[in-house]
Amino acid sequence: MCGIVGYIGWQDAAPMLLKGLKRLEYRGYDSAGIALLNGTLSVMKQKGSVGDLENNADTFSASMSGATVGIGHTRWATHGEPSDLNAHPHLNETGDIAVIHNGIIENYSALKQELVSQGYLFLSETDSEVLVHLIDRIWENEPALDLESVTRRALRHVEGAYGLCVISSREPDKIVVARKGSPLVIGIGIGEFFIASDAAPIVEHTNKVVYLSDGELAVVTREGYSVKTIENVEQEKMVTELDFSLEKIEKGGFEHFMLKEIFEQPSVMHDVMRGRVRVAEGQIFLGGIADYLDRLKQAKRIVICACGTSWHAALLGEYLIEEFARIPVEVDYASEFRYRNPIVGVDDVVILISQSGETADTLAALRTAKEKGALVMGICNVVGSTIARETLCGMYTHAGPEIGVASTKAFTAQVIMLYMLALALSKGRTMSGEEIVINLKELASIPEKAARILELDSQIQSIAQRFKDAKNFLYLGRGYNFPVALEGALKLKEISYIHAEGYPAAEMKHGPIALIDEDMPVIIIATRDNTYSKILSNIEEVRSRKGRVIAIANDGDQEISRLAEDVIYIPQASGPITPLLAVIPLQLLAYHIATLRGCNVDRPRNLAKSVTVE
Ligand code: G6P
Repeated sequence: MCGIVGYIGWQDAAPMLLKGLKRLEYRGYDSAGIALLNGTLSVMKQKGSVGDLENNADTFSASMSGATVGIGHTRWATHGEPSDLNAHPHLNETGDIAVIHNGIIENYSALKQELVSQGYLFLSETDSEVLVHLIDRIWENEPALDLESVTRRALRHVEGAYGLCVISSREPDKIVVARKGSPLVIGIGIGEFFIASDAAPIVEHTNKVVYLSDGELAVVTREGYSVKTIENVEQEKMVTELDFSLEKIEKGGFEHFMLKEIFEQPSVMHDVMRGRVRVAEGQIFLGGIADYLDRLKQAKRIVICACGTSWHAALLGEYLIEEFARIPVEVDYASEFRYRNPIVGVDDVVILISQSGETADTLAALRTAKEKGALVMGICNVVGSTIARETLCGMYTHAGPEIGVASTKAFTAQVIMLYMLALALSKGRTMSGEEIVINLKELASIPEKAARILELDSQIQSIAQRFKDAKNFLYLGRGYNFPVALEGALKLKEISYIHAEGYPAAEMKHGPIALIDEDMPVIIIATRDNTYSKILSNIEEVRSRKGRVIAIANDGDQEISRLAEDVIYIPQASGPITPLLAVIPLQLLAYHIATLRGCNVDRPRNLAKSVTVE
């Protein structure tokens, strides 16, 4: 949600910032802009993508070239539509202070009224613009202060969330950055420093980074950086080494990041399990929770909170943990949990699942659970992310950077983590050693089976060709395949803008069946498990209303081919493991339908990869 970059050093800052913004574009792409210091402050910004901005670079001031200090922003609109004026950076009236901001200033309306009444002129409809005028006003009143102090004082007036960078031609050799709620990372080079919302734009320059914590403000110069709290207390920061390479955040020959990430799944599945399972011995090592495993096993109840695709993984977590470990599990949308005064206490474990580790609602749910005394545990993909840092214990999914806005490989990685967690919680309680081995064998067979499904890509593409013009889709599944139906429908609506709904198949008769006619494609996950005969009846019900059925079935199932218009065959697997396979054709189907409709799958309209506003 909004991407921020900054550079101070010895290289030409403009191309550096534009490149960095491109790596962050998955966070927002409504507008882009940069501000550079080269004696004076120059800004170029406009509605649209970073590429559009780059194409117009010639029409902007020539003073851009040669600048070695600058900041840049790619926007996901909250307050004010995508437009040139609402694009960041925002300037004060005299044009010598520039601010970029990610987050929401909740009291912006009151602050704006006050500033307007004092004669400040606002050019945008954004909440962010109040920041630059606030800084300007404080500086006007106390000209002896430096940029750091005026920024700090301004932030004391602000309620809400921010990751921000401020530069000024009055103090041209520094960038002031601050964070509360929205992530910020400083990359450490030699005689140069990089600032970004996440490590993606930094990794090609350096692998040494410092993560700012909430309530911290840093001053970055060519010589170094100093970090203090907003209250002006100095902070010692730990330098972290990034553990991913540039090639992991590039497309590697695929047309889109999303396709690359779908195809990466077999190797990601290996990576998630690497060093964590020893199949023959029935061993599961989950280092990040090892010290808390006994407490987890004794939990009266586990609550899992998440948003979006991670919420679908959470639902599978409920099925897995309840079936394997017999511990009651509740799943909540993080946004609901945080506001409904949930009953949670010291006997409960609250698990937060988040690919980015930055989702505002999930982070707030974590803090609520912590306040109420629950043991909080995270399942995150992004190493060093806020949720990962604020949870007591947790596990990284190790799926590698996920750039496509619609989550794919992060989902399968989360489900594998939950599968391993469920087994670890069962060991010595509800499952014998032999049962653990059987289930681990199932898990270990998954990467090879997933690779076989990817070979069906061209069949799935031809199905997509025939169904791409449908206006609605229904996705049905039972048991473990119900969350898969939800996830399949979410994938399609996110990237193709076709209305799609996921339902437990048996619920169809309580409403959705009214929608079924010859124009309604119905995707039914009909793998052979304990509900197989029931799902066959559901297919008959759809057919008798002329619905067009696309079935996901197990290899060799002839019966289904008589009933469905199309069948996508996936390898046989146990019920609990099937979602890891059944979801792959649904990801590919959504991808192909969206690309055939000419949609930008990596950057779907109105969405962002990391949602740091509530
Ligand atoms: C956004 C993304 C989704 C993601 C959700 C939760 O909506 O577009 O792909 O599932 O946020 O994100 P998280 O990082 O917490 O898993």
